[in-house]
Amino acid sequence: MSRPDENEPAVDPVASPADAALGVDALTRTFGEVVAVDDVSLGVPEGELRAIIGPNGAGKTTLFNCIMGTLSPTEGEVYLSGTAITDEPEERRPHMGMARSFQSNQLFTDQTVLENIRVVVQTTQQGAFSLDLFRSHYDVGRERAIQIAEVVGLTGDLEAEAKNLPHGEQRRLGIAMALATDPDVLLLDEPTSGMSPGATTQTAELIEEIHDERGLTVVLIEHDMDVVLSISDRITVLDRGNVIATGPPDAVRENQAVQDAYLGGMREEL
Ligand SMILES: Nc1ncnc2c1ncn2[C@@H]1O[C@H](COP(=O)(O)OP(=O)(O)OP(=O)(O)O)[C@@H](O)[C@H]1O
Ligand SMILES: [Mg+2]
Repeated sequence: MSRPDENEPAVDPVASPADAALGVDALTRTFGEVVAVDDVSLGVPEGELRAIIGPNGAGKTTLFNCIMGTLSPTEGEVYLSGTAITDEPEERRPHMGMARSFQSNQLFTDQTVLENIRVVVQTTQQGAFSLDLFRSHYDVGRERAIQIAEVVGLTGDLEAEAKNLPHGEQRRLGIAMALATDPDVLLLDEPTSGMSPGATTQTAELIEEIHDERGLTVVLIEHDMDVVLSISDRITVLDRGNVIATGPPDAVRENQAVQDAYLGGMREEL
């Protein structure tokens, strides 16, 4: 039972989905009998850093897959800056200002760090440099890739093959590849998973920096509660496909429904 409390986080979408930088409205996704995402509505205002947390299997990645068009929702809509994009093909979404990094890295493992980033820069900016008569797309893409590598702290590894990078750097390369599309809305699926505590702190700082400096809207799926509580503007808690709370970190941490959902799981971390 929830205790009445003026800090109690509302189970509401915060911003109307159609008015937000990123919104989902009444979104459901089933897999046979499994309702992975169950009538979820949320709106992430422009420039917010929103964490999505919840126990394993809560539907977090499925929600991202529906937002990015990797999966079609069974029902409901996805909005980007007020425009319904639910039926836009996945390949179009990076061109519309959305990018994601994956829970499991999706790198070109035999390619160098530089090439991994450059390829993404080039595929999303094709045609953007058609008036630049003096420099090839390759050069422009390369320069931009080097800048992005610098943002995520990979300048020293530009010529390293992705498969030879330590795990933490592979995760940061995944973030770099998402940034390479120059998004307005960035979705990160467990960017610190498998990292040492030191690398986790560094990555949290990196995410905060990217968010603050670029004014990006960031949606972050994250299991590390220290990271979530320290860098989020608001937290949305999913449990068995449902939003059970949305609010600022302190209010979410104190929320009884959230504590109940985590009983036996990550409650101690909260
Ligand atoms: N492609 C799929 N086919 C069938 N069932 C799926 C598929 N993807 C996800 N599911 C199921 O949907 C539910 C939600 O899974 P999802 O991966 O979205 O959870 P999650 O919150 O990201 O979990 P985790 O914290 O472990 O990453 C689970 O029951 C999962 O088994
Ligand atoms: Mg997941």
